[in-house]
Order: sequence, then structure tokens, then C-alpha cells
Amino acid sequence: MSDTTTTTTTTSPDQALKARHRVMWGLGDYPSVAADLIPELGPVVVTATGIGPGDRVLDVAAGTGNAAVPAAATGADVVASDLTPELFEQGRAVAAARGVELRWEEGDAEALPYPDDAFDVVISTVGVMFAPQHQAAADELVRVCRPGGRLGLIAWTPEGFVGDLFRTMKPYMPPPPPGAQPPPLWGDEAHVRALLGDRVTDVVTRRQSVTVDRFPTPAAFRDHWRTVYGPTVVAYRTVADDPERTAALDRDIEECAARHDRGTGATVMDWEYLLLTARVR
Ligand SMILES: C[S@@+](CC[C@H](N)C(=O)[O-])C[C@H]1O[C@@H](n2cnc3c(N)ncnc32)[C@H](O)[C@@H]1O
Repeated sequence: MSDTTTTTTTTSPDQALKARHRVMWGLGDYPSVAADLIPELGPVVVTATGIGPGDRVLDVAAGTGNAAVPAAATGADVVASDLTPELFEQGRAVAAARGVELRWEEGDAEALPYPDDAFDVVISTVGVMFAPQHQAAADELVRVCRPGGRLGLIAWTPEGFVGDLFRTMKPYMPPPPPGAQPPPLWGDEAHVRALLGDRVTDVVTRRQSVTVDRFPTPAAFRDHWRTVYGPTVVAYRTVADDPERTAALDRDIEECAARHDRGTGATVMDWEYLLLTARVR
């Protein structure tokens, strides 16, 4: 008889997927994306939901606290929740630099570790859109928000730059698991209204954009993006052994950026997103 001990770990397909997502968002340098390219999204959602002193706020898929930190700066009592706690270290540093306090807690948007009605305001900036089961995530947003509380969501639109980028990268990515829905659908107003259903009222939507103008050319954008954005890092890793596919991915991302360039000389892109606010019944 062998004296080797074998440890068997059982992992459900969902747990395995979430583990892969957690690794993916820890790749590259997402904190720099939030800080350098899209920092305005947090204040937009904080203002749109009227967060203020004493509000109990949950930021879902908070990352480094793009929304949670400015929410806490208003005097609100804030929890920043995310699948990828590796991002919290940078978030804590950002919060400390601004002199604000909040809690950082690991959690899956599809199974939030909070009781019903626990928060006055539930927000997410380009975050909850990345949970693969949209209805499950929407149900959780509503469940943890008290009746009369507010929701504030920002998601990249399917037609905008990031929606186009995900379509561009799809042929190079590992196939999504059955039932997973594309993240930019959360930027489609009809889709989000259907997810939330009649559990919310006073729904207000606006399409807005973040202007990204710090790259001299679409190729310069691509060369930076492929090093910092987890999903793009995964796309390049997936084709790393195939020089032709890598070159095709290079070309496709550059062309995608060029499609969204205003065409005024320097590369200036407007990254469209949907801002949705609502009140829970
Ligand atoms: C594009 S980042 C946005 C982070 C932040 N809200 C911001 O505005 O910078 C997407 C975030 O979603 C998180 N995420 C992805 N799937 C998730 C899930 N199922 N539950 C919770 N967070 C998730 C990732 O870890 C990542 O931090």
C-alpha cells in the first residue's frame, strides 16, 4: 500500500470560473487604469445617487474604490466589495492619501455576503457588468438595497469603445462558459430595465462618455492597454504561442482604437457608458 496522500479538491464550474476571473482582474495593472484613465466615473455615480453623510453605501465590484473612495469622502459609511481582493491594497493606499475610511470586503456580485435591505445606496462603476450571470447579479443589487434606497450603475455600452473592444478580443479569448452573458449588455438600457423589472421605480438613464486623450496614436494606446488591462492580457496570453494570431490581435485592437478616434490629429477617444439610477420599491 502506498503511503502517498492524495488530496482531492472539488470545485464547481462556477467556482472555477470565478477563480479565473479573480486571476484575470489581478493581471496587468488595473489600478493604473482606474487612476489614470477613468477616475471621473466614481464621482459621476456618487453625484447621480446623491450620496451623503450617514448613507450606508455598498460599491459592488469596487476594484480599487473608484466610486467607493469618493463616496466615503462625502461622509457616507461605505463598503467596497470585490471578487479580487488583490486590488484592495492599492485601494487602501488611495483612501489613505485622501484621508477617508471605508471597509474593503471580498465578495461575489452574484452572491453578496450581506443581509437583505442592508444598504441605503448600492453602486457599481463598470464593475457588476463583469459578473457573468446578469440576472443573479441584478437580483443581489436589489436584495441588499433597502426599500426606498437608491441604485447607481455605470456600464460600458455595446456600441461604445469598450463594447467594441470586447467584441474585437472575443475570437482571441478562451470561450465563455455556457450561460455567461457579454458584459457590455449592462450598457443597454432595455436589458438593465428588464433585469431590474418592477422592483425599481424612478429609473433615469443617460449615455455619457469618458474622453481618453493621452495616447499619441491608436498603436500607442494598444501597446499600453495590453500591459495593464486584465482581459486584454488574457487575450494576448491565449495566442502567445501563435505569432500570426498575436499580430492579428495587435492589428485588430489598433483598428478598434482608430475606429473610435475623433480623427482630429492626436488620438482622442470617447468611451461611451450608460449611467442608470433608480429607486428600489
Ligand atoms: C473594470 S473593473 C472596475 C473596478 C471599479 N469599479 C472601477 O470603477 O475602477 C471590474 C471589476 O469587477 C470585479 N469583478 C469581476 N467579476 C466580479 C464578480 N463576479 N463579483 C464581484 N466583482 C467582480 C473585478 O475584480 C474588477 O475589480
